[in-house]
Amino acid sequence: MHKISDSAQRRLEKSARSAAARAYAPYSRFPVGAAVLGGSGRIYAGCNVENASYGLCTCAERAAVFSAVAAGERTVRAVTVYTPTALPTPPCGACRQVIHEFGPDAVIVSVCDAKSRIETKLSALLPGAFGPGDLL
Ligand code: THU
Repeated sequence: MHKISDSAQRRLEKSARSAAARAYAPYSRFPVGAAVLGGSGRIYAGCNVENASYGLCTCAERAAVFSAVAAGERTVRAVTVYTPTALPTPPCGACRQVIHEFGPDAVIVSVCDAKSRIETKLSALLPGAFGPGDLL
């Protein structure tokens, strides 16, 4: 697994936790915060943004990845997800696919309000993924 420094990991967690406080989740009441570490070393936050048309709800991870890409990043080194729950929340399948596009080797960490945490890599969460190389 690509190693993320302890200080970068702490910054990712802090960013994901504060992003969750800005989540717009009146329907699920399940706020999620995410933070992406881009190839440049900068961190980008995202939160879930729901909609009265439920199918348009967007996950925190995708919001964070899109923010990173809009800022000019093309590589995702790590994604940290925070939920105010007793168990850590893994990224959903759609978010795994979106992360794969920019970070097939990304480190994925999920943290919560208890000590329990998941630390894994995208390639373990989405083995055999379809990606840009398959279109060539
Ligand atoms: N959600 C995320 O933001 N990330 C995940 O990895 C799982 C689910 C959001 C989507 C929706 O707003 C709420 O959590 C409940 O599914």
